[in-house]
Amino acid sequence: MTATESHVMIRTATEDDAPAIAAIYNDAVATTVATMDTEPRSLDEQLRWLKDHPPPYVVLVATSGDAVIGWASISRWSERRAYDGTAEVSEYVDAARRGQGVGRALLDRLIEAGDRSGFHSLLARIADGNAASLHLHESRGFRTAGVMREVGWKFGRRIDVHLLQRLNPTGPTPPRPADARPR
Ligand SMILES: CC(C)(COP(=O)(O)OP(=O)(O)OC[C@H]1O[C@@H](n2cnc3c(N)ncnc32)[C@H](O)[C@@H]1OP(=O)(O)O)[C@@H](O)C(=O)NCCC(=O)NCCS
Repeated sequence: MTATESHVMIRTATEDDAPAIAAIYNDAVATTVATMDTEPRSLDEQLRWLKDHPPPYVVLVATSGDAVIGWASISRWSERRAYDGTAEVSEYVDAARRGQGVGRALLDRLIEAGDRSGFHSLLARIADGNAASLHLHESRGFRTAGVMREVGWKFGRRIDVHLLQRLNPTGPTPPRPADARPR
């Protein structure tokens, strides 16, 4: 566990964190375009999602006292095995605790974990206008790979989504798992 500002701690999530992770996520589902989900996630779905993140994938929570105030994940990007060196990051902070450094602390720990796990490429999909998330990712070395025009529809409007990418700065990482042999 790592301490950040104002007694915020960051640790790996457990099943017991599922209700708090879902509550933070579902508030963002209902009130933001940070996620293109439009329906809240049930506790069962959240538990399945957690189980779907075995190593090298990662789910972290930020806590203050006993309360989970944010979470972040490294998730599979694609089922196609040649993409195994690429993963997608996400971070969600409790609305009452945003703007206090929690998201930055979570992303820093997430990047460390991703580099340690040997991911070569981390991706983030960020809705146009999400200034906090765009700034946060750019400040941590993510760069715009492109903007997907009008791919989302939420709250009665079409939404552009920026695709940002961070290549592992330690250089080319070995492919995971064993590469296919050309025929
Ligand atoms: C995006 C989010 C995770 C950022 O977490 P946070 O705890 O609020 O952010 P922090 O306080 O750590 O700030 C991180 C950086 O963003 C900047 N920032 C915060 N809010 C900002 C805003 N509204 N506009 C521009 N920059 C902002 C901070 O100044 C800080 O910059 P610095 O590191 O250069 O000082 C959080 O706002 C959130 O959960 N939003 C809703 C869900 C979401 O958008 N998730 C990302 C999906 S792609």
